[in-house]
Amino acid sequence: MKFSALKGVHDILPPDVYLWQRAESLAREICSIYGFQEVRVPLIESTDIFTRSIGATTDIVEKEMYTFPDRAGRSITLRPEGTASVVRAYIENHLHTLPSPQKFFYSGPMFRYERPQKGRFRQFHQIGAEAFGVGVPELDAEVLSMLRVFLEKLGLRGLNFEVNSIGCDDCRPAFRKALLDFFSPFLNDLCPDCQRRYASNPLRILDCKVERCIQLRSGAPRVTDFLCGACRDHFETLLSLLDVLHIPHTLNPVLVRGLDYYTRTTFEVTSEHLGSQKAVAAGGRYDKLVEEFGGPKTPAIGFAIGIERLITLMKERGEPSPPSPDVFIATLGRRAVIKSAVLAEELRARGFWAEVGYDGSSLKSQLRKADRLSSRYAVIIGEDELSSGKLTWKNLRDGTQGEIDGNDMAEFLSSLSRHPQS
Ligand code: HAM
Repeated sequence: MKFSALKGVHDILPPDVYLWQRAESLAREICSIYGFQEVRVPLIESTDIFTRSIGATTDIVEKEMYTFPDRAGRSITLRPEGTASVVRAYIENHLHTLPSPQKFFYSGPMFRYERPQKGRFRQFHQIGAEAFGVGVPELDAEVLSMLRVFLEKLGLRGLNFEVNSIGCDDCRPAFRKALLDFFSPFLNDLCPDCQRRYASNPLRILDCKVERCIQLRSGAPRVTDFLCGACRDHFETLLSLLDVLHIPHTLNPVLVRGLDYYTRTTFEVTSEHLGSQKAVAAGGRYDKLVEEFGGPKTPAIGFAIGIERLITLMKERGEPSPPSPDVFIATLGRRAVIKSAVLAEELRARGFWAEVGYDGSSLKSQLRKADRLSSRYAVIIGEDELSSGKLTWKNLRDGTQGEIDGNDMAEFLSSLSRHPQS
């Protein structure tokens, strides 16, 4: 019997995994500078949490959720995103009683039953950040700035920050009406999904991926022309802050996002190097969601980065060179193996990656293996070395070699290798 991973689900192996580690550790570092603390929320939640927040008429809820009854018959869903869970956790754990803003980040797998293609998977990973309790545009700018700093520190260039405002409950009705008026003459030409969306949630027509609907919506009303005074002020202040902070951005008036919880600011960071799935990160404000989940009135904003797409962009800049052993101890004979075990532990205690040639093969084949592993040093322990007490060391990068007392070897190698594995 031969098993394989499910469609759209992947193993993450060396050397790629080192890029993942780099991205995740840099995210931790930058988030902590900006005061975002880590939260770990469950991978499974009650289905209503996602239906209510993401929206019953979104693609995610209509077609993409991994939903199943648990053994007690409750409807459970594998999380398709992190925001809804963090909002639930924020309310359930009374985090709103702490001083605002409360800022959190998370990282982990998300699940969407999408048609797999380049940059689109069924299990994918996000690094997300959410900030609660402050509604001013300065926070929007801070969040975007954190995202920009993170992407730049990873060495990614040529990214496009697309921004929009989709207004609030005050401006939405007039925009909704304008959309209905605009689409009504060619309602029958829209895809069947959009014909349903026309009645249930016309904003979603702007997010449809069907080519015909994309063409039909060119010339559709722009949400930014319908913003109320407060939303307009918010958006204009944000745009001027982005200028002050030198965050290059473009206005994208059809950026309504695929999730229903957004209010005011929406944004996506896109790259031409990603093909059709070009958003590496996306987010926005969701000032009503905490309240809709039964919490106090709490404005909030956040984003999520798609780690797989981030890794694609990091790879464009060069393949990672995986870490390799600091020392390979080649052994000849049983007594040498015992001595090498002691030396290897001494080296590891000092933070070095030490490997031992346990397989009893010839010295030549053990040194060949050390080379293939890209070990920096080899140490040879055979009968001669054991009787003389002197061990031979070899620098496999520059070919230098010498002998040293076995008891001093760990100290000696420590002084030569300036970069122990951390
Ligand atoms: P989203 O736009 O659905 O937003 O996803 C954010 C990012 O996750 C996308 O820009 C993309 O990089 C990545 N992504 C999404 N779906 C897939 C997939 N099937 N395969 C690979 N990568 C994918 C959210 O999830 C919101 N929770 C973001 C947010 C946080 N808004 C406010 N706070």
